[in-house]
Amino acid sequence: MKTCIMVSGGDAPGINTAIEAYARLARLGGDQVLGARNGFAGLLDEQLVELDRSLLSLLAGRGGSILPSSRRPALQDPNARERLGDVMRRHGIDNLLLFGGDGTIRHVAPLLAGWDISCIVLPTTIDNDVAGADYTLGHDSACNFATQAVAGIRATAHALPGRIFLLETLGAPTGHLALAIAYTSGADLALLPEYPLELDWLSERLKQIVARQGAALVVLSEAYPDIDRLVKEIPRRTGIRLRYTALGHAQRGADVSHRDRCVARDMSRVAWRAFKDGDRNGTVLWRAGAAILHHGSSPGEHKPPPDRHLYEYINQL
Ligand code: F6P
Repeated sequence: MKTCIMVSGGDAPGINTAIEAYARLARLGGDQVLGARNGFAGLLDEQLVELDRSLLSLLAGRGGSILPSSRRPALQDPNARERLGDVMRRHGIDNLLLFGGDGTIRHVAPLLAGWDISCIVLPTTIDNDVAGADYTLGHDSACNFATQAVAGIRATAHALPGRIFLLETLGAPTGHLALAIAYTSGADLALLPEYPLELDWLSERLKQIVARQGAALVVLSEAYPDIDRLVKEIPRRTGIRLRYTALGHAQRGADVSHRDRCVARDMSRVAWRAFKDGDRNGTVLWRAGAAILHHGSSPGEHKPPPDRHLYEYINQL
């Protein structure tokens, strides 16, 4: 069996671990494995590389991906199906192990299944927004990165009180990532795009928090509506200084946490086993604390919005 590993869309911590784990399984099982650089655009251009074992071992715990990804919609090319089939035949590739997030799972995987290309997807996104999955690889590492930022903010907030701190997380259009971080960091408020709050209410609440405890920590998702207005209006309405920190892509490139190292290896094992058992299309989902194979291309349309009870608990609504 010869597998081509590749990444489509945004990277996530844990991809390198999973690649290393899969390559190890393949080696032990007498299978072949190679990588495609630059997503499907690269695969169609035959940008195929051997996976360097020592480099993989070295980078298994680092964020990012040794196989660069791409957001180019290369499969929309009218000749893509034929070209992909040709490349796979020429290089003797039996199947694709694909790392990707929500978009890859909902759009790319069904397309490949329709073209009769064997492909198993490992959901990798810090956003934790994949339908049918309790958890996606990379989320824990991104939360850990934020936890360290929160510790720094808390230290300076204690040392120089009287300010409101807004910490922006990634998360694409969803608030799953921000909610998880707000909860574990004991934030005073969580602002999620799914549940926008009224600015007057927010300003009044922040005034109370700062009066009571000296400073306020707000965790907000990058997709929260009109953040610029928030940053301008809150100080004006409260008379309190506001300091803004955006974690940005540093968060996505975080080092891989212990949990994500375990999840990555478990997912790789399920994917390898599935190919060996003759499964042609599937998604490895993390459910109820374990990696399982969802047979078929797409496990569902959209993940439900972030837990409303948890959100209300954090914000004391
Ligand atoms: O989906 C993963 C993610 O990191 C989101 O959290 C973020 O909104 C987006 O990708 C950023 O994408 P890009 O790297 O293209 O700016």
